[in-house]
Amino acid sequence: MIEAKSLTRRYGPLLAVDRISFTVEPGTVLGFLGPNGAGKSTTMKMLTGFLPPTEGTAVIFGHDIITDSLAARRIMGYLPEGAPLYGELTVAQFLDFTARARGLRGRQAERAIAGSVDRLTLGEVLPQTIETLSKGFKRRVGLAQAILHDPRVLVLDEPTDGLDPNQKHQVRQLIRDMAEDRIVIISTHILEEVDALCNRAMIIASGRLLADDTPQGLLRRSRYNGAVTLAVDDAQVVASKLSELPEAAEVEIRRGRLTVFPSGRGNLFDAINRRLTEHQIRIDEIQLEGGRLDEVFRSITMEEAA
Ligand SMILES: Nc1ncnc2c1ncn2[C@@H]1O[C@H](COP(=O)(O)OP(=O)(O)OP(=O)(O)O)[C@@H](O)[C@H]1O
Ligand SMILES: [Mg+2]
Repeated sequence: MIEAKSLTRRYGPLLAVDRISFTVEPGTVLGFLGPNGAGKSTTMKMLTGFLPPTEGTAVIFGHDIITDSLAARRIMGYLPEGAPLYGELTVAQFLDFTARARGLRGRQAERAIAGSVDRLTLGEVLPQTIETLSKGFKRRVGLAQAILHDPRVLVLDEPTDGLDPNQKHQVRQLIRDMAEDRIVIISTHILEEVDALCNRAMIIASGRLLADDTPQGLLRRSRYNGAVTLAVDDAQVVASKLSELPEAAEVEIRRGRLTVFPSGRGNLFDAINRRLTEHQIRIDEIQLEGGRLDEVFRSITMEEAA
């Protein structure tokens, strides 16, 4: 497992990461969420041994990143932000180089490279120099490099950034497969990715860990959790009828759609349905909301900013 203990990083006077602590078990896909400049990449750089912490440390499957850095790095794969690669090498040369750097030789190296090439569909670009690749292909070469030695821990800084929808899908599947008995830590600005991929999410802002929960747990904090949204012809009239319900706390109209927020008394969805039938109100759509991650993200990170 991974144990981060009060990880802290200063850049001169700037406190980029402020005493972040957590533990992660195998089988976890942990998502780092947070505004630009929150400290996500800096935390990843410290975990992977690319940047020494100013204070604190982390232990990766028993290996301290400061006192036992080489052993810790051996069992990790890392996709840095922007995927810096050697532009003048071809993809084949670069993966060969990576395999050697990871201590793989002969048949073992060949098999590892073939596996990575296959998983990231890089076959057609093997002879091409990296600097001539499109953004998404560069990213995929970076991912191939990260998984090549089949690491127990994968740290991926915005892994699906710049990928087309098919590749996003494929990379998410790859991450799910890899996570089964490993630890995967990703950062992302795509909130739906957290829901689709992660079983744990951390919200970081101004270097501080503000929330550590499952995606479902975060959704439960949303004011939309348990709300009912309707598409109707005359939103104003329907709103006045529904706001009388004891099950309703508040009604909002936005772009012709009506959202009723629960008061916590009784079953709001059933009450709305009964009222609609009583008044013979025709609806185009009705939806029970699970919660909105973007709203939770905003409220947690804006609170911090305030
Ligand atoms: N080498 C550096 N020197 C000085 N300041 C730095 C350096 N690297 C990062 N910072 C600062 O540290 C803070 C955290 O940066 P970091 O890259 O970790 O944020 P992030 O959460 O990854 O943001 P983004 O979502 O934009 O990728 C920012 O204020 C950034 O400007
Ligand atoms: Mg970053």
